[in-house]
Parts: sequence; structure tokens; C-alpha cells
Amino acid sequence: MISNGMAARINEQLNRELYSAYVYLGLSAQAEAVNLKGTAAWFMAKYNEELAHAMKMYRYLIDQSAAIALSTITAPPAESEGVLAMFERTLSHEREVTSAINDLVDQALSQKDHATHIFLQWFVTEQIEEEATLNDILGRLRLFGDQGQGLLMIDNELAALAKRMAQGTAAQSVAGI
Ligand SMILES: [Fe+2]
Ligand SMILES: [Fe+2]
Repeated sequence: MISNGMAARINEQLNRELYSAYVYLGLSAQAEAVNLKGTAAWFMAKYNEELAHAMKMYRYLIDQSAAIALSTITAPPAESEGVLAMFERTLSHEREVTSAINDLVDQALSQKDHATHIFLQWFVTEQIEEEATLNDILGRLRLFGDQGQGLLMIDNELAALAKRMAQGTAAQSVAGI
């Protein structure tokens, strides 16, 4: 049985995952506004992934007979910026999420809450992958440039990545995970 304190912390993280989704949706709209279709599709795929993360937490709380407490989702920053800055902002956001997940793991360990500890392992692994992907994209943007031909090439790569991510999300929802 999950403690009230631990459930409240997972609830907060559920809200943060929804905020992450909102951040990505805002970035997708920004990319659309400058006709970067691949970049927009990639951010939209991330939006769907973050919704799936929130739903994992939602399902876990329900399975643990804990109450769901939904709260207000803060509006993401809406400034217009270059593509490099958009991905830099994304990486710093994901690093904050990683540290929030680590704090949750600390709390689960301190409470000897093995179920929550195991549940959180998926998120620990996911954050490693997310930061690695963002570092990779940022590295390519710095190498090939965030304008002209270089940007066009990266936009095409992001379109292909988004397609693979959408297939992954669809396969997960069929499998019910
Ligand atoms: Fe997430
Ligand atoms: Fe994320």
C-alpha cells in the first residue's frame, strides 16, 4: 500500500508530465509557425509521449487505490526563438524532470516502498534516453547549423524520428502499456 505522502508526490509528477506535454505542444506550434514540419512532428510525438507518461502515473495511483488529485497546468513559455534555443530549452526542461524523478526514487527508497521504486525504474531509464536524444539533436544542430541546408536536413531527420516514435506509441497503446 502506497503512503499518502508518496501518492501525493506521484500526483505532483503526474501534473509535471502534463506540463511537459504542454511544453512540447507549444514548441510544436512554434515550429509549425515557421514551416518546420519535421520539427513540429517531432515535438508533437513528444507531446504524445508525455501524455503517455502522465497516464502511467494515473494508472499506477489507481492500481494502488490512491486518490487522483488533478491540478492546474501552468502555461508554457510562448516566446519565439530559434530552433537551437528551442532544443536547449527542451534539454534543460528534461534535466529538471530527471532530477524530480530522482527525488521520487529517493523518497520511495527512504520509505522502503518497493512497488513505487520498481514503478519508477521505467522513468529513470526513459529520462536517460530522452536526454541522450536531445544531446544528439543539439550536437547535430551545432555541427550542421540551425539555418539553411543544415536545418533542412535536421528537419527531415526529425520527421523520420517522429514517424518511428508515433509507431512506438501506437504499439504501446495496443499492448496497453
Ligand atoms: Fe515524461
Ligand atoms: Fe520527457
